Amino acid sequence: MFRAKSRQYYRSNLGNIILPPTEPGKEMILKSVCSLLQRFSKDTTGASLSVRILAIKSLSTFFYLAMTDYFRSNIDAMAAYVPGEQPKPGSQIIKLNSNENPYPPCPEVLEVLKNFDSEWLRRYPNPYAEDFRQAISKALGVKSDWIIVGNGSDELLNVVMRACVESGRKVVYPTPTYVLYQTLTQMQSAEIVEIPYSEDYELPLEELIAANGAVTFIATPNSPSGHVVSMDELRKLASKLSGVLVIDEAYVDFAACNALDLVKEFENVISIRTLSKGYSLAGIRLGFGIANPKLLSGLYKVKDSYNIDAIACAVGAVAMSNQEYKNACVQKVNASRTFLAADLKELGFRVWDSQANFLLVQSGTGNAEYLYQKLKSEGILVRYFKQPRMEDKLRITIGTDKQNQALVQVLKNLLYEN
Ligand SMILES: Cc1ncc(COP(=O)(O)O)c(C=O)c1O
Repeated sequence: MFRAKSRQYYRSNLGNIILPPTEPGKEMILKSVCSLLQRFSKDTTGASLSVRILAIKSLSTFFYLAMTDYFRSNIDAMAAYVPGEQPKPGSQIIKLNSNENPYPPCPEVLEVLKNFDSEWLRRYPNPYAEDFRQAISKALGVKSDWIIVGNGSDELLNVVMRACVESGRKVVYPTPTYVLYQTLTQMQSAEIVEIPYSEDYELPLEELIAANGAVTFIATPNSPSGHVVSMDELRKLASKLSGVLVIDEAYVDFAACNALDLVKEFENVISIRTLSKGYSLAGIRLGFGIANPKLLSGLYKVKDSYNIDAIACAVGAVAMSNQEYKNACVQKVNASRTFLAADLKELGFRVWDSQANFLLVQSGTGNAEYLYQKLKSEGILVRYFKQPRMEDKLRITIGTDKQNQALVQVLKNLLYEN
């Protein structure tokens, strides 16, 4: 049944530590900071004493930070991942920027939280979050030894990378997509191979096959586009790759198809899912991966022993057990998506077809950053990505109908203004 023979998915070892090369740039920084410090301390600048003291302090801090050798050279070189803005709970913001669910989690979640026995906090939790895994197993009809759980699906993406990727290996994905793939690859000092989607988000299948990464990421539905990749294309990709194919199904609950059959068919495929979106539990951090136990065996070696805390385990178990509630929320969101897409098109936006809980839109006037800032000043947060191909677009999470209408009204006012 399984096509893959004995493939080498994992890094050969974790023992060969390669020291980062010394950086010649640091000597230059040292020289220029020293000369600036001298100028300020001798008052060759004409600045007052307090200004000079402040300048010396700032330069010293900069100097200290620039000169420390704490980090691996690839960490020094990379930019940090920038998550969406998270205003304080209770603030009057309409939050349509992080693809959270606008509806509350199922009622059983609140019961668990109210009745949680603090005795369970004194002890370490079950290392495999057994109750949560059993509930996933029952809900999806997958054996529990095919399931690994994580502190959000982000943790599982990281676990795959830690197990399979190191310097000299390639990580491949089509772009634009979830920016974290780039960050995780940089963290592992691995080679990034980004292959652009066409403007209409057709999968660059042959290029992805040819690149043959140690890990290939496909988000479906994809973020920020919301489009789905066909199962036929994923099947072809899985059958041709010798490395791991990560199918990131964070938004699968809102979509019409899923990759479970492929997971069963191919040993090198893992589907990674989350409770942050469909199940309204972004705050508790729960995700899970489904894959052949052989693939999971390496991932289990690198996951933290107690990565799911006792409260999250209990909450996840009841949330997975109430599929009717989740499906009802998803239906409401999907219905609102249809209405919002129509309203935005009427306002002159290009709207990409989406099977996720958000829409990628391009304003007819191309002033996406301006709209983002203006919406923010009106108390509505959407997502603007300052990155190639995204500068003229916004990603808008589907809110309640009331929130969506407020958004449309503000956009209408803004567009009339111009
Ligand atoms: C494509 C994709 N994958 C994974 C995640 C991470 O989800 P979480 O870590 O909340 O499970 C996100 C979050 O927005 C996402 O957009």
